[in-house]
Amino acid sequence: MTEQQYAISEYPDTVEVYTKLKNLLAQPMRPLRRDRMQDYLDYFDTRCARSKALNDEARKLIPGGVQHNLAFNYPFPIAVEKAEGACLWDADGNRYIDFLQAGGPTMLGSNYAPVRERVIELLQTCGPVTGLFHEYELKLAQLVNRFMPSVEMFRMLGTGTESVMAAIRAARAFTKKKKIIKVGGAYHGWSDSLVYGLHVPGTGRMEAKGIPPGATANTQEFFPNSLGALKARLIFNRLLGGTAAVIVEPVGPESGTRPVPFDFNHKVRELCDEFGALLIFDEVVTGFRLGMGGAQGSFGVKPDLTVFGQCISGGYPMAGGVGGRADVISRFAAGIGGSGERAYIGGTLSANPLSCVAGYYALLEMERTNAPVLAGRAGDRLTRGLQDIIEKYGLPFLAFNQGSICHLETSGVMLLDLRHPLRLLKELKPRMHMLEEMGAAYMANGLITLAGSRMYTSMADTDAVIDEALEKFERVLSSVEGV
Ligand SMILES: Cc1ncc(COP(=O)(O)O)c(C=O)c1O
Repeated sequence: MTEQQYAISEYPDTVEVYTKLKNLLAQPMRPLRRDRMQDYLDYFDTRCARSKALNDEARKLIPGGVQHNLAFNYPFPIAVEKAEGACLWDADGNRYIDFLQAGGPTMLGSNYAPVRERVIELLQTCGPVTGLFHEYELKLAQLVNRFMPSVEMFRMLGTGTESVMAAIRAARAFTKKKKIIKVGGAYHGWSDSLVYGLHVPGTGRMEAKGIPPGATANTQEFFPNSLGALKARLIFNRLLGGTAAVIVEPVGPESGTRPVPFDFNHKVRELCDEFGALLIFDEVVTGFRLGMGGAQGSFGVKPDLTVFGQCISGGYPMAGGVGGRADVISRFAAGIGGSGERAYIGGTLSANPLSCVAGYYALLEMERTNAPVLAGRAGDRLTRGLQDIIEKYGLPFLAFNQGSICHLETSGVMLLDLRHPLRLLKELKPRMHMLEEMGAAYMANGLITLAGSRMYTSMADTDAVIDEALEKFERVLSSVEGV
């Protein structure tokens, strides 16, 4: 195999990032001017009538009016009708540059024809699912193993959430230990044991409505980047029977919103080795986005287990999987019977031919086109442009990126945590609302972001697309109060 290339051209200076983020939080908020915000809200009333009508109907049948957490946008979700390359079109015909990228997987751009054609071909011969083995399962597993040699064996599942559950089950079955340690604020899906310390570090069970305390009794969190706190937990757990695994998002919680220093994952690896815990990389977003070798290749760290999500099928449905050390993953051996050693997992639609063919050709195309690196360059251009705009208007905001994962922090809400509980209580809601407004303003200007602060770029984001996006961002950012 030729040498892998990676998407991060220059690793962010995390000391500088945190200094600027602290500075952002220390200042009063700088929302958009009220008159301009009203113009942006008017856009939704006047130009998104069909989306609004559909959402009004949907609210009667769908809780909250949308099925997908990421689709819930202020003031109401737009209904998307067409997706192609770098753009989406809504039900009223408005065009948007799409930096949501379905939450990350569409590295080739939306609805990429060469993959779509392979999927249609397969549908015509065997349909989407048979419940039996298909050659593309093998081809996809071989490909993942080629890109990420740490994945000695691969078990495909339906979602990232399921795959995290499976990784944890395997880790517990293998190590015969119970405790799982995660980073506060990180997202690893919505399984009972991982809705813990979600979004805001230190909040433990705050979001765990409907989840019995027993389900999270063996889940622990530590503050982002605090290796001392991780070590303390590992030492303490040793007295309680030990830690089965440490699970991390390798660029930091919430896809690097709180970025890790470059050597963080190396140090976590060392601690896992010292305490006999498995290291799980949750590469649901970073896998193939930071390069075909994933974050593990980019950082040069070998996890014991890797969790995959949407990326494994190039954004086609039923996408997840867990791979890693053969002695751990072989605990999932399917089939009737069993030795009592088996960690039970399943999934009627897991590894269906449609997902496997889509994943196989999406990954091949990403390798052929060098999509992760091209998307990373687009991320660099977008981030540099945003930094220029921030400087030009003297804003306290911050833009940084890890390749094609770009962050634009304007309200600082994602950086609040329980270490400052009074500030958290007082500022969470207003800072969250400011972010919602920013997201709405970007959308009214033809830009779709993830919750108003994160942008994923793809291979389809040419220089012309990024420059057009920057003009739109400038229009919004120049209408911030006090400019
Ligand atoms: C890092 C990470 N882990 C796990 C998940 C859960 O994946 P899924 O939504 O497929 O269940 C996500 C979802 O975006 C994620 O970003």
